Amino acid sequence: MYTEKELREITAKFMTSAEAESIKPLGPGFINDTMIVSAHKNESGRRERYILQRKNHLVFPDVPGMMSNIDLVTSHLRKKVTEAGGDPDREVLKVIRRRPESMTDEEKTAPAGDLYYRDANGNYWAMCLFIEGSVTFEKADSPALAYKGGEGIGKFQSMLADFTHPLNETIKGFHNIRWRFEQWDEALRRDAAGRVKDLQEEIGWIESRKDEMLKFWDMVEDGTLPTRVTHNDTKISNILFDEKGEVLCVIDLDTCMSSTSLNDFGDAIRSYANTGAEDDRDLDKVSLSMEMFRAYTAGYLSQRKSTLCESETEYLAFSARYITYEQVLRFLMDYIDGDVYYKTAYPEHNLVRTRAQYKLLRSMEEQYGQMREAVAELMA
Ligand SMILES: Nc1ncnc2c1ncn2[C@@H]1O[C@H](COP(=O)(O)OP(=O)(O)O)[C@@H](O)[C@H]1O
Ligand SMILES: [Mg+2]
Repeated sequence: MYTEKELREITAKFMTSAEAESIKPLGPGFINDTMIVSAHKNESGRRERYILQRKNHLVFPDVPGMMSNIDLVTSHLRKKVTEAGGDPDREVLKVIRRRPESMTDEEKTAPAGDLYYRDANGNYWAMCLFIEGSVTFEKADSPALAYKGGEGIGKFQSMLADFTHPLNETIKGFHNIRWRFEQWDEALRRDAAGRVKDLQEEIGWIESRKDEMLKFWDMVEDGTLPTRVTHNDTKISNILFDEKGEVLCVIDLDTCMSSTSLNDFGDAIRSYANTGAEDDRDLDKVSLSMEMFRAYTAGYLSQRKSTLCESETEYLAFSARYITYEQVLRFLMDYIDGDVYYKTAYPEHNLVRTRAQYKLLRSMEEQYGQMREAVAELMA
């Protein structure tokens, strides 16, 4: 926990201490890593607010690389929004740069050195403008909200469709099934928790689908599926809406990287369209809701139709199977490894998750024809 005095010192790296009026955690009563900094009123009587965030460098070992990605992506988006006559300070997350006077020579020459501050404890901090009058939703539990979520990510991706700058790979091998299979083979060989002998059925679920999943990733690697900007954390709470419920912008850009944009679609479907919980014990509750699938896809394609190429349209529905399969693999692999990666609430938790995600995968496989038809209808 940081004291108010320490937080003020960190804030002063981005704005003068005379500018900052108060610093409060975002959300009442939470001890989290996101703070709201209120500035004094400016000459026009307006009070600006800022988000000061501690970046988790255990999850993201390369914070400068991450901040550089965010800067490249938001600069591109600002240009697009400005060209379209929109307000770039509301329709794009605005990164606040360091005050040059607060920077050491070392910081000035470091890559992306003006985009973050590293404190004496080794923690990284960054700042962005708080977008006033914005609303977020915690959960997309209706087709109308699923549509809006699809629209938000679709808009983000369509504005980035002509972005060509490569981004830093801040999380290694993300959604790269070839790399996952290497880890998988090692996990089976190691059998760290002695569980492999009891998991023959589950291991078969993974092995029997290896080829079709590798075929998908081949297309990413050989360019059949183009490499674009992916957000990689498409939950609805990462989209800001205005008071009327219209999409303002996508936030939480820490995970932005270069890959196939189908990853974002597939992962959104995996969570938005599951009728049960990710770790449901009651498998009867778990299935793919075609209604939610259609709603999300309709919102997504309302923005993305004209920028998707043929191969992307062709594999859009499949990407939901790909991402869900990857999640089955990752939960099962962690169970085999003895539960070292995912936090578990009880001993069999990773196995329960494996079975629940597998049930979802099966439901997608069963309804795959309908999923493809829905995409074709919405593209027409
Ligand atoms: N620039 C911003 N303007 C307005 N609200 C924001 C902004 N950034 C974050 N928020 C609010 O704070 C919440 C958490 O921020 P986020 O960057 O998504 O962090 P986390 O990694 O904790 O999800 C968001 O869901 C949103 O409600
Ligand atoms: Mg978030």
